[in-house]
Amino acid sequence: MIIDALLVVFGGTGDLAHRKLYPAVYNLYLSGLLPENFALVAVGRRDKSIQDFRSQVMESIREYSRNKVEDIDKLEKILARFYYYKKDFYDSQGYERLGEFLKDLDDSYKTRGNRVFYLAVAPEHFGPIVERIHSAGLAPNGKESWQRIVIEKPFGKDLESAARLNEDITRVFSEDHIYRIDHYLGKEMLQNIMVIRFANTLFEPLWNNKHIDHIQITSCETIGIENRGGYYEGSGALRDMMQNHMLQLLMLTAMEPPVNLDTESIRDEKVKVLKALSAMAPEEVARNVVRGQYGEGVDPDSGDRAIGYRQEDRVSRDSDTETYVSMKLMVNNIRWAGVPFYLRTGKRLPCKTTEIAIEFSKPPEVLYFKEFQNLQSNLLVIKIQPREGAFLQFNAKKPGARSEIIPVAMDFCQNCTVDAVSADAYERLLYDVLRGDSTLFTRWDEVEHSWRFIDSIAEAWDKVSPSFPNYSAGSWGPDEARVLIERDGRIWRDVCDYY
Ligand SMILES: NC(=O)c1ccc[n+]([C@@H]2O[C@H](COP(=O)([O-])OP(=O)(O)OC[C@H]3O[C@@H](n4cnc5c(N)ncnc54)[C@H](OP(=O)(O)O)[C@@H]3O)[C@@H](O)[C@H]2O)c1
Repeated sequence: MIIDALLVVFGGTGDLAHRKLYPAVYNLYLSGLLPENFALVAVGRRDKSIQDFRSQVMESIREYSRNKVEDIDKLEKILARFYYYKKDFYDSQGYERLGEFLKDLDDSYKTRGNRVFYLAVAPEHFGPIVERIHSAGLAPNGKESWQRIVIEKPFGKDLESAARLNEDITRVFSEDHIYRIDHYLGKEMLQNIMVIRFANTLFEPLWNNKHIDHIQITSCETIGIENRGGYYEGSGALRDMMQNHMLQLLMLTAMEPPVNLDTESIRDEKVKVLKALSAMAPEEVARNVVRGQYGEGVDPDSGDRAIGYRQEDRVSRDSDTETYVSMKLMVNNIRWAGVPFYLRTGKRLPCKTTEIAIEFSKPPEVLYFKEFQNLQSNLLVIKIQPREGAFLQFNAKKPGARSEIIPVAMDFCQNCTVDAVSADAYERLLYDVLRGDSTLFTRWDEVEHSWRFIDSIAEAWDKVSPSFPNYSAGSWGPDEARVLIERDGRIWRDVCDYY
């Protein structure tokens, strides 16, 4: 059930709000999923009339919404519930006035004091804003109303800073009112991983070290860092992708079946996967983790020459920030003993795709596996983006008089037809915040254990200077990444979608 509420967006003039949040609100409205009693307040520091704000939101919706604007009346109806409130985050008195403004809107929209505070702001503002929301009494969380807080990633830059931030937030909001965003969790196919695993007799009995040889999780991008040099220099691929999105994919792939589908049961199983990852000693990091940084090369999308990372805007000319990471890790429990997980993510790689590939073990060398050399293993690939779907590869006889066996595939694509555009992740996540379902958000212990693991890698890296750049833009990353998997007698999958 959706409960009536005001959505208060701090950073309401920013990129995330305009590209993702406002189109998501519009699409929820079109789908009939917004509460009747709803309004949105964007908090920003610029001078802006409400008309200017609404026409900028209209532009963003026209540009970024997955549903094109066909009915202008509908668009205007939802825009009439968008408000702009000018204030600086650090103007403490301003929060009381903001409170009065919100109360007036409560009366107009019958939202009864329920609020979602969405912090679409840089991480250094999270703590100060929460503290001021508290001091101004904007989040009483009493019996009559609820107040929730949504925190964008990154949640800290290591365990220590994440714990400090968490303390600041939990002083004001209890865990069940905190929604830590990892927008990957809002993607259709991520939610489908559990369904594919646990709703199919075909897969779950095979989902273990008796039948699986290894698993590859890949998330690669063709773009460089675009105009995010300032942010990326303080982050890098390990913190920007591995700590959150990649470990989420790992957790959903490796978790045990939850006892039921409620939020805490699912989160309990996910966090156990992180607990089964041992922090890596420096010599393990040297052996099992590869970092890279792109140099000059080719832009994979246009074929034009591409500059190296160190030449990008707001990047140090001798930067040691990694734009690529691959690693081999083991999940130390009974189900996965002996099964390596290979993870890789990077920028300026040959294609944009995210997928999980489960390669099943080969059967004993009898019958066809004895007679035919190089028969391929069965493979299940869950495609997350841009193609959404799954394919299952198995061996079959090639038609004809000769005895030949070839790999064939059963291929399910859920977004291959023109009108099958999945809801954007932010739509699903905003909808869940409004109805109070935090299953697709990150619980504190997930954040804590993921940082513990990632810190062990970052600390080992801090002791050794990398020789960057070590891969060309448009290539598959550093050569050490190839060695990392080939020394185990395996190869990285060709993940590009040629459809
Ligand atoms: N953009 C994305 O696609 C994306 C994706 C994932 C996560 N995120 C995360 O989302 C957060 C926001 O990112 P963004 O790209 O939207 O950033 P952004 O475009 O720089 O927007 C930041 C917003 O904060 C406002 N602001 C900054 N200091 C302020 C102050 N003292 N008082 C009042 N307003 C202030 C800015 O107002 P002005 O306009 O006046 O400067 C702007 O509205 C970050 O944590 C980022 O890591 C973003």
